[in-house]
Amino acid sequence: MGYSNLLVETADGLATITVNRPDKLNALNHATLIEMAAAFDAVKADATVRGLLITGAGPKAFIAGADIEELAKMKPLAAKDLAYFGQQVYARLEKLGKPSIAMINGFALGGGLELALACTLRTISATAKVGLPEVSLGIIPGYGGTQRLARIAGPGVAREWVLTGDMYDAAEAHRVGVVNRISAPEALLDDTRKLAQKILSRGPVAVRLALETIARGQNMTQQEGELIECDMFALAATTSDMKEGMRAFLEKRKANFTNS
Ligand code: COA
Repeated sequence: MGYSNLLVETADGLATITVNRPDKLNALNHATLIEMAAAFDAVKADATVRGLLITGAGPKAFIAGADIEELAKMKPLAAKDLAYFGQQVYARLEKLGKPSIAMINGFALGGGLELALACTLRTISATAKVGLPEVSLGIIPGYGGTQRLARIAGPGVAREWVLTGDMYDAAEAHRVGVVNRISAPEALLDDTRKLAQKILSRGPVAVRLALETIARGQNMTQQEGELIECDMFALAATTSDMKEGMRAFLEKRKANFTNS
C-alpha cells in the first residue's frame, strides 16, 4: 500500500515507520491515523518483519501531537469517536506481538508521546522534549496517555505531567522511567537500531511470549500474573527455538533461531 503521510521501509527484519509531515512537526491528523492502522496491520502480517521502529521526519519533531487544526473543529461526540479510534489504533501497535521501539528524535507531545507510550520501548535524543500539553488546550490526553503513563511511570508522575501540561527534557523523562535510553542526537539512530537488533537476535517466540506475559499481567494480581507466566513458560518449552537455544549454549555457539 502507498502512504501519503508515512514512510515505511524494512531492513534486516526491522520495519521502520516514519511519520512524514515535517512542516507540521508530524502532527497526527485523521488521515495519518488511518494510514498508521494499515501500516501496523501490514507489520503484524509480514512474517519477515520481527520488530518495528517508529520515528518522525525532519530535525525537530517525533510527533508534536494530534493535529490541532482538526481538533479545533470537533463537536463532543466526534471527539469521543476520535479518541476511541486513536485508542484502537494504538492498541493495535501495543498488540503487534512484535517488539516496537519509539525513537524520539524531537518533540513528542500529546498524541505523539502517547504513541511512544504504546511502544514496547522508547529511546530519545538528548535534545528532545516530551510532554502531555492537552490541558493547556482545554482537553485531556485521549489516546491512552492517562492510563499508559500511570502504568509506565506511576500515578504520581502521570498526575504531574497531565495536570501541568509541562514539557520535560530527555534527562527528566529518563529519570522518571518514561524513556529507556538517551543518545546524543547523532548516535540515536545507530543506538536504537542496535537495541532493536539485540532483541531480534533473541528467541523470537520467547520474545513474543514474554511481551504478552508482561502485558497481560498489567491488569491482574501478582498471583494471577504468575499463573499466566507458568503457562507461557511451558509453551516456550514446547518450541524448537527452546531446544536450539539450550543446545547452542551447551555447544558454546550462537543460537540459530527459526521462530518455531
Ligand atoms: N497540530 C497542528 N499543527 C501543528 C502542531 C499540532 N499539534 N504542532 C505544530 N504544528 C504546526 C504549527 O502550527 C506550524 O505550522 P505553520 O508553519 O503552518 O504555522 C508548524 O507545525 C511548526 O510549528 P511551530 O509552532 O511554528 O514550531 P515552534 O518550534 O515554534 O514550536 C512546538 C514547536 C512543538 C512547541 C509547538 O509547535 C507546539 O506547541 N505545538 C503544539 C503541541 C501540542 O499542544 N500538542 C498536543 C496536541 S493535543
